[in-house]
Amino acid sequence: MNIISRFYALFLVIMAALPVAIGRAAATPREHLSLDANWKFHLGDDWPDALHLENAGTGSGPASEKFADSYWRVVNLPHDWAVELPFDRAADGGHGFKTLGGRYPTNSIAWYRRTFELPQADEGKRIWLTFDGVFRDATVWVNGWCVRHHEGGYSPFREDITDVLHYGGKNTVAVRVDATKSEGWFYEGAGIYRHVWLDKTGLVAIAPDGIFVESEFEKKLPQGSPDIAVEVRLLNALTNSAKTTANCEIFSPEGKSLHRFAGSETLSRKSQGTVKLETRLSSPVLWSPESPKLYKLVTTISVADKIVDGQASTFGIRTVGFDPTNGFLLNGKHYEIYGTCDHQDHAGVGAAIPDALQEFRVKQLKEFGCNAIRTSHNPPTPELLEVCDRLGLLVLDESRLMGSDSENLKKWDDQIRRDRNHPCVAIWCIANEQFAIQDTPQAANVAGAMQDYVKQLDPTRPVTYASPEDNVFRGINSVIEVRGWNYHYGPQMDQYHAEHPNQPNVGTEQASVVGTRGIYTNDRPRGYVAAYDVIWPGWTTTAESWWSFFAARPWLSGAFVWTGFDYRGEPTPYWWPCINSHFGILDTCGFPKDVFYYYQSWWTTNTVLHLLPHWNWPAREGQEILVQAFSNCKQVELFLNGASLGKQTMKPNSKLSWQVKYAPGALSAKGFDDAGKVIAETKVETTGDAAQIQLTPDRKAINADGEDVAVFTVSALDAQGRVVPVAQNQVSFAIEGAGKIIGVGNGDPSCHEPDMFVPNVPERGIALNEWRWQLARFPHNRSTVPEYATAFDDSTWNDLNAKTSGGELTIKTENTTAVYRAHFTLTEADLDGAGAQICFSGCDDEGWYFVNGQFVGETHDWQAQPIFDIKRFIHAGDNVVAVGVNNSVGQGGLNPNVTVNLIGHPGVPPWSRSLFNGLAQIIVQSSRNAGEFKLSASADGLRSATATVQTRPCVLRPAVP
Ligand code: GAL
Repeated sequence: MNIISRFYALFLVIMAALPVAIGRAAATPREHLSLDANWKFHLGDDWPDALHLENAGTGSGPASEKFADSYWRVVNLPHDWAVELPFDRAADGGHGFKTLGGRYPTNSIAWYRRTFELPQADEGKRIWLTFDGVFRDATVWVNGWCVRHHEGGYSPFREDITDVLHYGGKNTVAVRVDATKSEGWFYEGAGIYRHVWLDKTGLVAIAPDGIFVESEFEKKLPQGSPDIAVEVRLLNALTNSAKTTANCEIFSPEGKSLHRFAGSETLSRKSQGTVKLETRLSSPVLWSPESPKLYKLVTTISVADKIVDGQASTFGIRTVGFDPTNGFLLNGKHYEIYGTCDHQDHAGVGAAIPDALQEFRVKQLKEFGCNAIRTSHNPPTPELLEVCDRLGLLVLDESRLMGSDSENLKKWDDQIRRDRNHPCVAIWCIANEQFAIQDTPQAANVAGAMQDYVKQLDPTRPVTYASPEDNVFRGINSVIEVRGWNYHYGPQMDQYHAEHPNQPNVGTEQASVVGTRGIYTNDRPRGYVAAYDVIWPGWTTTAESWWSFFAARPWLSGAFVWTGFDYRGEPTPYWWPCINSHFGILDTCGFPKDVFYYYQSWWTTNTVLHLLPHWNWPAREGQEILVQAFSNCKQVELFLNGASLGKQTMKPNSKLSWQVKYAPGALSAKGFDDAGKVIAETKVETTGDAAQIQLTPDRKAINADGEDVAVFTVSALDAQGRVVPVAQNQVSFAIEGAGKIIGVGNGDPSCHEPDMFVPNVPERGIALNEWRWQLARFPHNRSTVPEYATAFDDSTWNDLNAKTSGGELTIKTENTTAVYRAHFTLTEADLDGAGAQICFSGCDDEGWYFVNGQFVGETHDWQAQPIFDIKRFIHAGDNVVAVGVNNSVGQGGLNPNVTVNLIGHPGVPPWSRSLFNGLAQIIVQSSRNAGEFKLSASADGLRSATATVQTRPCVLRPAVP
């Protein structure tokens, strides 16, 4: 690092420390630590009996602390293993034809393990483990204790693990994730696909998600000074009562201290309590998508004048409301919702979206004027909300399941408490399209209960339901505060509005028009759909139709288009070979489709003029081609090779079309304003063949934090430097320096190439099935006896065959010991691999394990299925395994199903991806080394490209080492 970058690094550290210094006048025990890095991962449910319900703290296999995971793959979270799996036509198409689910049991369950040290000084703190999202069923062990079973792929869960931790020692978290069952009808990923946190607090502390700050203006009109109400939930784990004081300080968006206020509450021993405070803020700066100004509330908790906890919360001041006549109101004024529905799924990485990629996605949405996102059909990732707060995007925050049962309400409670401080969240949504029950009185009851629940926890925001019905006012629609409309538009809507003039409305889901980026003729065999905004499945409609209808009716509040991005699964209107949807305004990479410019024309104030299709049609000379202009200019004139093809007037919210006889060259257009002045020009040219590859990163410098990502556009240019819109070249990638590739994509809905190239670790198992055994005495420790020695003659001992005696308990009496022996042969080549393990299936009750006379480990739990590293104990030729077994209770012995696993060197396949209609995307994540990385891309017959991105010093997120 040079002197300047050293200085810069120091500056960053000081800057980052400032809010912390503000937030904590004195150091408190609170630490919020990332637990994302360096998990060990194993795909496959090779330990189905790891959970033991008969005794506490006895998880076996990977759930046990003693398990050796040294050869498992290292992964950083977020991680989605589904995206790594191959496609299979026989798999579930709705979920993207990935080999996951009931039909693929070996791909559907996986294990994650993470070990970490805790200092002795943490003893006496409370320690929490939080999973922001695991798809789908998670069983969590800490140091062999099963601390949690959580079902639900989208809801966060948290456990106080204070009791079972080792202070001043090593701790192990093991998570078995079962993704066999799906929740939605779209690609959902698999694994720990959101962040994991370890939080440490003192014994008197702010409860998790325990701060709620809301601002309220009189009559919901942003005039005068809003009331700021703060609620601080506190936990007291002391055995005596504690008089707590919550001191709050509000900071302006510029970081200026504005107000201090405080409140107290005495908490009895081992209890919870809430401090409620109120203040007023004069001349507030309002939050809106156009001006997303954020305030900060810093709360410190003190007991007997000593600060014991502190936390900073971000909030915004704005009002939201839905009005039956004026539609959505933001800060008291009608505000049209230009929304999109989106799943959590991106090219390359699947559901495991790094925070920086969330930001990239939000920016892509904002480009075409999108100002709101519906987190369909599930609670969002917290970092998505954080980006929406900061960049200005409203959020419809949706639950996954509808239910008023205690479990569902608990999830709803967690979601609301976690998300309610975010100014971006404008409305809650209890459910989507509950066809089976939506009209019943029971559904009305449940919807009412969920809605009432919101009102208790968050009185400022309304509630909706994404209803697929037309003029129906039964069941849920009859009780829900804001009527949601999925798809229906037309006279029934007007009629509904006339009949229920007091119920506000919002378009929860509209459009669902399908189109493939860069494709202009339908191609059933390859699964492509023309991108002219003309193809829609029966229940849906075009962008132009729905938007023209909504634009004319402000009472509808605007709507959320299905969808902003294409996503894996739901390959409508075709099935295989398509593996992802075509609904997006952007493809799975975030590359714009033509319809992007339709929305940009009518949802932004930019001057837009876009022509489609591309102009490379060598086989169609002289044939008519449909040309369209998406524009907000008052008139558009089209030219082919300089000759005018006519000027047309644009009706608001529409588009223009021409039939043009194809001739190669330049198709161009001019856009005019009301006065007839040219305000925009564009052209589409016939290009030459691809001659070179181009790599363009979205940013020139990213943070050297091991988390940030650069998103590269890969394109093919002709000799004149024009993007070739039909190029399909296969491109290979290589990287050097401070970054690693984490995913590739190209937006092709029928591409079956891998999105990820994961290291492949070859493994070969050698079964040891010629066991011999004999009762024998030996010390209950690792000392050797002659029976363990390599040269010992066991030929007269009893035979024990793995196949027939696997479950047989060979030691019949209590407090009896025996020795078991087996041999295996290795070649010199076998020793060249990365390692070797010996894997046991069980030893009842205790075992001392030796390879070639040397001690490799011991177990004292009949349920343990230990795995030991034995690379350093083995040699070419004959090898001997000996196990001393002590049976203390009932019958016992060694389960002879034992395997020696030879582990080869990991092979990392080279990354590659073909271009789809001229484009591909490659996502590179920084390492923690400041400096740079260099990405290179090459394709047969084309000039290759390199691009360099700086990785700059930054303050690292506090993390568990
Ligand atoms: C809707 C549904 C969405 C998606 C969409 C496709 O009915 O809510 O999840 O399936 O159809 O058009």
